[in-house]
Amino acid sequence: MLILAIETTCDETAVALAEVEESDKVSGVPKFKLLANEIVSQAELHRVFGGIVPEVASRKHQETMLPLLITALSKLGRELEPDLIAVSLYPGLIGAILIGVATAKALAVAWSKPFVGVNHLWAHLYACFLEHQPRFPFIGLVLSGGHTNMYLFEDHFKVRLLGRTLDDAIGEAFDKAARLLRLDYPGGPLIDKLAREGEPKYRLPLAMSGADELDFSYSGLKTALSRLVARLRAEGRLSGELPNLASSFQVAAIEQVINKIKLAVKLTGVRTLILGGGVVANTYLRERLSELQAKLQLELLIPPKELCIDNAAMLIPLAYYQYKLFGPTPLKSEAYPSEEAGLRAILDIRL
Ligand code: KG4
Ligand code: ZN
Repeated sequence: MLILAIETTCDETAVALAEVEESDKVSGVPKFKLLANEIVSQAELHRVFGGIVPEVASRKHQETMLPLLITALSKLGRELEPDLIAVSLYPGLIGAILIGVATAKALAVAWSKPFVGVNHLWAHLYACFLEHQPRFPFIGLVLSGGHTNMYLFEDHFKVRLLGRTLDDAIGEAFDKAARLLRLDYPGGPLIDKLAREGEPKYRLPLAMSGADELDFSYSGLKTALSRLVARLRAEGRLSGELPNLASSFQVAAIEQVINKIKLAVKLTGVRTLILGGGVVANTYLRERLSELQAKLQLELLIPPKELCIDNAAMLIPLAYYQYKLFGPTPLKSEAYPSEEAGLRAILDIRL
């Protein structure tokens, strides 16, 4: 089965193609062979605004979409129509999602092929299924620019939400902290880099540290950093302290993640952990995770860095399982800005 996947929920336009070998007789599980994985980032375009401007994002997706699709299809080197057209249907910037969805629906109609609209957040976790066959149950943690969600996956589409951020998402906190530290957008990778030149010499608050609290919070950390920046500026010491501030912020932000993972493992007894989303590209987080893995004997699955940031390849395993279990998504289905609304309308799932 050949699957074409399209992603436009935020500021990356992405198209992927993969062949699914359905019946591996030895393991009984499908194998995914990636044939094309094209991504065009709009980060440069939004940098001057210091963050994503939704209207600008939609217009750029519109401009990039079809040329990128042609590039991906030409990678096949043969005339071939996919068997399934997948797209991120929720959550995200609605005007941006609609570009991908309109394209996917048009292709499905033109080729008379089924259309499947998937949850972008779960796709971040299902990126791991491209290379591995994770066992259920697993704890799934999405750390992205717009979301910080921790789930318990008992099976495909049997999911409980264990916790989520009550205010800013972790990636959003990295981006806001970067602005305070005079860095460009997106700030996460730049804080990651700058932090390597400094030490975590400032203790910033660790929010939500209750014994059974699986929700996250990042707005207090951002406020504390902003106060510290103001104080150091007033004292004329800010410039020299930027690397130490980046390191201190990063340590506090990641510490919260590590604490929540420890707690979730303790409360659920589940030792398989899958992470996804742009922030999972963070070097310090990866170091802390491998320490934790050794200490708690976790089975830890993290996509390679290029599959952590938004891409369309990650949609393929999720679209495959969704099509097998739920069939095609109706062509009249809407796109949704929130995960709750999308899950309820498309799969009748309540978290
Ligand atoms: O998953 P993603 O590509 O897009 C969303 O669905 O939101 O995540 C983007 C976020 C941005 O906030 C970006 O600053 C952050 O991921 N990010 C990082 C790193 N690379 C990307 N945050 C920390 N460290 C990084 N190395
Ligand atoms: Zn994402």
